[in-house]
Amino acid sequence: MIRVGLIGFGTVGGGVYERLLHTKKQIKQLLKNEIEISAILVKDRQKRRAENVDTFVTTSWDEFCERAEFDVIFEAIGGIEPAFTYTARWLEKGVPVISANKKLVAERGEILEHLAVDHCTYYGYEAAVAGGIPIINSLKGNLTTTPITRVSGILNGTTNYMLTEMIENHRSFTEVLLEAQELGYAEADPTDDIEGFDAWYKIRILSRLCFGTWPSVTSFFRKGVANIEDWHVEVGERLGFKVKLIAEAWRSDLGVKGRVTPAFLSPTEPLANVRGVTNGISLEGDFVDQLLFLGPGAGKEATANSMVEDFIFHERTTNAIRVTKEGKREQAESCIHSFVF
Ligand code: NDP
Ligand code: HSE
Repeated sequence: MIRVGLIGFGTVGGGVYERLLHTKKQIKQLLKNEIEISAILVKDRQKRRAENVDTFVTTSWDEFCERAEFDVIFEAIGGIEPAFTYTARWLEKGVPVISANKKLVAERGEILEHLAVDHCTYYGYEAAVAGGIPIINSLKGNLTTTPITRVSGILNGTTNYMLTEMIENHRSFTEVLLEAQELGYAEADPTDDIEGFDAWYKIRILSRLCFGTWPSVTSFFRKGVANIEDWHVEVGERLGFKVKLIAEAWRSDLGVKGRVTPAFLSPTEPLANVRGVTNGISLEGDFVDQLLFLGPGAGKEATANSMVEDFIFHERTTNAIRVTKEGKREQAESCIHSFVF
C-alpha cells in the first residue's frame, strides 16, 4: 500500500486527489502497489467540502501526522510557513514530498534539497514551474550536460491570460483578474501574479537547474504588469508588437543574471504567440540551438497531472531494475534520484 498524505485541498490539492483516484488502476500496474489517500490537512474547519470525499480530513497537524506512516506527501498549501516546517518534517523521516509551491522552492529549495539527499529521499517540484509543462524533470533528466546559455519564458498563466483577454477582447484589467481567480489560476494573493513575484520565483528555479547553482536574489530584477495601461497595449498592437510578461535568465561575464519584466515582442518571436493561460519556455544553448516548451501554465488538472507524474517518475526511477556489467539484474540504488548539483 502507498499511503498518501495530502497537505492542502484547494484547487491543486483537490486536483491531486481526483487525479490519484482516476489513475489508481494504472498506478497499481506501474508501481505494483495500491494507492490509499490516508489523510488530508486543511486550514479552515468551517469550509464546506465536497461530500464525496472518502478520506480523513483534519485541521490539526498533530492529528494528520499521527494518522499514518505516509509513503508520500503532496504539499499544496503555498507560502513559506508552515509549508517549510511540514515539508522538512517528512523529508527528515525519509518520506518523499511532492510540491507545487514555487515560493517555497525558490526561497528554501536549497535547504530542502539537501535534506532530501541527507535522508535519501526526494523533494519533487515539477509542478512549481509552468504548471503542466514537464520542464523540471526534462532539465534534471534529459538536459543535464547540455550547456544552456539562456532560459526565457512566459511563466505566469494568470497574467498571460489577462493580457490576452485585454488585447484580443478589449476587457478591463480588473474584470479579467477576477475571472482568472475564479478559474483557479491566480495565487491566494494575486499580487504575487501581477507584481511579477510568481514569475520571479519560477525563473530563479529554472536558473538553478539551467546553470547549476541557486542564484542570488539581488541579481534578478522584477517588475510585474500592475502598471500596464490600455494605451501601452494599444500602441504595441498598432506597431505590430505583443505585450508579454517575460522572465529570463542568462549567463554573463558577471555571473548569472535574470529579470522579470513586461516586454514588447515582435510577432516572429515564438513567445509572442503564446496565448491565454498557456506558458512557454525557450532554452538556448550549445548543441540544441533553441528548445521550446508549450503547455498549460496553471489550473487544477494540469498542475495535479504534473504532481502525480512527478511522484510516479520518482518511484519508477528509485525502484528501477538495472542490468549490471555482468548482465545481472538488480534493484537500482534508492538514492538515485535525490541529487544536488
Ligand atoms: P488554494 O488557495 O486553492 O488552496 C490552498 C489549500 O491549502 C486549501 O485547502 C487551504 O485550506 C490549505 N491551507 C492553506 N494554509 C494552510 C495551513 N496553514 N494549514 C493547512 N492547510 C492550509 O491554493 P492553490 O491550490 O491554488 O495553490 C496551492 C499551491 O499550489 C500554491 O503553492 C500555489 O502557488 C501552487 N500552484 C497553484 C497553481 C494553480 O493553478 N492554482 C498551479 C501551480 C502551482 P482550506 O481549504 O481550509 O482553506
Ligand atoms: N498563479 C500561477 C500562475 C499558478 O498563474 O501561473 C501556476 O503556477
